[in-house]
Amino acid sequence: MPENLLNKFDEIILQRGYSSRSEGVRDAIRSYIVNFEWMSDVQGERVGVITIVYAHSQRGLEDSLTEIQHDFGGLIQSSMHIHLNHDNCLEVVVLRGEGQEVKKAAERMMALKGVKHVKLTTTSLGKEL
Ligand code: NI
Repeated sequence: MPENLLNKFDEIILQRGYSSRSEGVRDAIRSYIVNFEWMSDVQGERVGVITIVYAHSQRGLEDSLTEIQHDFGGLIQSSMHIHLNHDNCLEVVVLRGEGQEVKKAAERMMALKGVKHVKLTTTSLGKEL
């Protein structure tokens, strides 16, 4: 694990008043599981927004991200790229389609090396509300 990642984690658990690192790790794993279960639950026609932060210097990463976006081209409504700083890029992708397909696109992006953060938010189309 990269040292700066662990340092940042220690900083947060200190701020949040955890008694030990392992307590923080347990909580982080729980959040990861809850988030995964929440994502698995996304059903029906949805609009999804995927926010990705990644290191653009990672070899092959931009090609892989483009490839995934072409694979899900039928769902993607729009995307936006921002050069965040010297090392990192932010991409926002808006998709519309079956919730599980939207989720699949986000998961494929998450699994890529060099991707630092992926957030998926989904919303219904408001028809049932
Ligand atoms: Ni960029």
